[in-house]
Amino acid sequence: MTVNYPPKLSLAQTPTPLTLLERLSAQVGGPRIWVKRDDMTGGVVSGNKIRKLEFSLAAAIEQGCDTVITCGGVQSNHCRTTAILCAQLGLKCHLILRGAEEPADGNLLLDKLAGAEISYYPNTEYTARAGEILQYWRDYYAEQGCKAFAIPVGASDGIGLWGYIAACKELQADFKQHGIKPAHIITATGSGGTQGGLTVGNALYQLGATVWGINVCDDADYFRRKVLEDMRQWQQWYQQSLEVSQLPINVIDGYVGAGYARASEAVFATIKKVAKSEGLVLDPVYTGKAFHGMLDQIRQGRFDGCDDIVYIHTGGIFGLFPQRQQLHY
Ligand SMILES: Cc1ncc(COP(=O)(O)O)c(C=O)c1O
Repeated sequence: MTVNYPPKLSLAQTPTPLTLLERLSAQVGGPRIWVKRDDMTGGVVSGNKIRKLEFSLAAAIEQGCDTVITCGGVQSNHCRTTAILCAQLGLKCHLILRGAEEPADGNLLLDKLAGAEISYYPNTEYTARAGEILQYWRDYYAEQGCKAFAIPVGASDGIGLWGYIAACKELQADFKQHGIKPAHIITATGSGGTQGGLTVGNALYQLGATVWGINVCDDADYFRRKVLEDMRQWQQWYQQSLEVSQLPINVIDGYVGAGYARASEAVFATIKKVAKSEGLVLDPVYTGKAFHGMLDQIRQGRFDGCDDIVYIHTGGIFGLFPQRQQLHY
């Protein structure tokens, strides 16, 4: 399948390995669980966001921008990755963070080290005025004689989708190498772009899998709408013939718990168990919650009748440290 990609910067350490969790799969007793190690896409830039940012930042540079504005939670992995990559590329970075300033730890510490400008907005104001806030800062930079490129939350839009479309090309090669044909691909969903990219890529590269997003915030309806919107934007912006509205958007709801970034004791127990039995480290905000949900769904029989499933490890390690107390060591 020939897919015509837009300009892309080569920033991530790819291809990432696809590894089998042998002990855990045997313990759980369902299909074999494979993990696409996107927690290994880099050091301080590790995780899923760098795959999307390879395309978003290429567009920023192509448009002659010297400044990047993006937004997210105070412990956003996306913001951290953007801040570090901007420093690597010599671009100015301005982060609009939702919430109050916290002690410099985890992702926020790295944002500061990378020299990002940071503005904090209370939750309610950020939610009600996100578009206006972004425009305010764009105008501010224009007045300074700078050209700013705005990247939406999680780089989840028509451009960012390319990241996980490209990852599907990698998965196609991984499956061939290991001689497997996984029936399901499972990921954490936070802003929808990873799931959207996987859904499109699964169709373009004919992987023959069912793509599932386990949402870590909001609900299934929200993500069905959001993922479709991103896929439509991709189809329109790049004049693609693939009819995205025909693609299934599968969201497994029920594992958000008390809210975004708030994980239950059971999720922390899964994080500990997986780290100890497989040396695979998950985080409480995204990958731990979704992995926990996946194990629960295996036990409930959702993935019965197939040999292999793939979990996309989307990174997030730095989000573990500010929540260290919940590990009770
Ligand atoms: C570590 C990690 N995993 C998963 C996700 C979810 O990906 P997406 O925002 O593309 O839905 C995010 C970001 O939201 C993340 O930082």
